[in-house]
Amino acid sequence: MSEEHLIKSNKRVKEHGEVFTPKRVVKLMLNQHELYGALHSLTATFLEPAAGEGAFLTEMLSRKLELANHMSSDIKGFEQNALIALTSLYGIELLVDNTDLLVMHMYQVFYQEYLRQLSKYNAPENNKVLKSALTIIKANMAQGDALTGKNKNGDDIIFSEWNLLPVKRGVQKVKRIEYTLDAIKTGGPSVDGQHQTHGYEELSLFESTNEEAQNTVYRFKTVPLIDVFKEIRTSVLK
Ligand SMILES: C[S@@+](CC[C@H](N)C(=O)[O-])C[C@H]1O[C@@H](n2cnc3c(N)ncnc32)[C@H](O)[C@@H]1O
Repeated sequence: MSEEHLIKSNKRVKEHGEVFTPKRVVKLMLNQHELYGALHSLTATFLEPAAGEGAFLTEMLSRKLELANHMSSDIKGFEQNALIALTSLYGIELLVDNTDLLVMHMYQVFYQEYLRQLSKYNAPENNKVLKSALTIIKANMAQGDALTGKNKNGDDIIFSEWNLLPVKRGVQKVKRIEYTLDAIKTGGPSVDGQHQTHGYEELSLFESTNEEAQNTVYRFKTVPLIDVFKEIRTSVLK
């Protein structure tokens, strides 16, 4: 959103406090010394609980992609580093239209930098990279109420933790684990019940009348980061 359009309507300002931050203010705020280290790390995570159309998150992504550029010596390296940067940025936005724009703006920033890198290395576009980027952005930018932890359907807001495994033969693999926002706040278990954020009490998040279904959880398979778009899950008995 341009500096000239920081407000969409008085009604939205009144009802949702929707006033967007001008880009120059975003840049000034992100230039704060305290943020230097985190913005110069591909993996340091940020969560913006009132993300709007992504004024802060898109600028953070730009900076992390610049870092990915400096850290990479070929297109494969950039693709991997750029996806790692994406996994570190999370947002919550209450309004559905803003959330759609948030996803779109994050993707645009990613795609523009990717195009720049493709031309730098004279390399062909890899559709898997773009599909995985969109999968990560959609998983990390959640529609919902940051105060209640629920989305528009009344379901829990769910975020994915992207656990990066040691790189083997140049391939970065990732284990994706889902947590509700509530579990993240309280240190509760993952959605599949197999992992703890910080060793809090176990909660059953699965409700079903079928006993087998009650005892079955679906976990994401560990895959190369570039393949996360496949969203392959395996079922496991609890
Ligand atoms: C002041 S605007 C800031 C947007 C963005 N951070 C920026 O600086 O441009 C606040 C945003 O928070 C959203 N919002 C309001 N209440 C919320 C809630 N309980 N949970 C999540 N988002 C909320 C509004 O829809 C609005 O987009």
